[in-house]
Amino acid sequence: MTVHFIGAGPGAADLLTLRGRDILASCPVCLYAGSIVPPDMLTFCPPDARLVDTAPMTLDEIEAEYVRAHQQGQDVARLHSGDLSIYSAVAEQIRRLEKHAIPWRMVPGVPAFAAAASVLRQELTIPGVAQSLVLTRVTGRASAMPERENLAAFAATGTTLAIHLAVHVLDKIVEQLTPFYGSDCPVAIVARATWPDEVVLRGTLATIEEELAKNPIERTALILVGPALAKKDFRESALYDPDYRRRFRS
Ligand SMILES: C[S@@+](CC[C@H](N)C(=O)[O-])C[C@H]1O[C@@H](n2cnc3c(N)ncnc32)[C@H](O)[C@@H]1O
Repeated sequence: MTVHFIGAGPGAADLLTLRGRDILASCPVCLYAGSIVPPDMLTFCPPDARLVDTAPMTLDEIEAEYVRAHQQGQDVARLHSGDLSIYSAVAEQIRRLEKHAIPWRMVPGVPAFAAAASVLRQELTIPGVAQSLVLTRVTGRASAMPERENLAAFAATGTTLAIHLAVHVLDKIVEQLTPFYGSDCPVAIVARATWPDEVVLRGTLATIEEELAKNPIERTALILVGPALAKKDFRESALYDPDYRRRFRS
């Protein structure tokens, strides 16, 4: 028996990996958060699978589901939105599994930032402009930010920021970032990327609050900030330069 943590991707059911789909199809138990996992994805589960919506559950109750499945020798598919490596709360579940010596594994998924970039049709790293991407968030009810991980520290790099779980405090973000990026710095908000009701707002640090006021979004949105979002006059990377010698070019 194994608990398979599976990154469900950003929303669209066909953005689940083939590996994730095959594991879902083979597990008699599936735990998922109803608010963020698309109902279509559950059709990959066996018709008689035990489907458990964890949205209203506590960690103790989720642990009890794992223990029950373990006692019955039933594999569990555990879906989490996006990829498992950020903001997925798998670490605390894994700790509980290890306490019971229950085997587990992880299957990656498409993270929200990658989905948002595809919706914007944009690369987030541009030669000579931004070569790093900061995945961050703001303090929320579920977890506080460590003291040194503040927006100003990341903004000092001038690179592209992907700010999660933060659309409700856009005013504070604009206030903190403007001294570093300037008021004409491009900003995009992508809400529910790849869901049928996906929304994209574009603007600058000076205008994005006005855009949000016209199109209120309360959750499941990513804020992307940085000059890479608008640069068209960047130099090309050397990768495809005829003079660039590389292993696969004779
Ligand atoms: C709890 S975090 C989960 C992140 C996820 N593990 C990932 O890999 O992207 C939830 C936050 O991710 C972002 N997010 C998740 N899905 C999204 C989507 N489809 N469109 C835009 N943002 C999304 C939002 O900032 C949302 O508040």
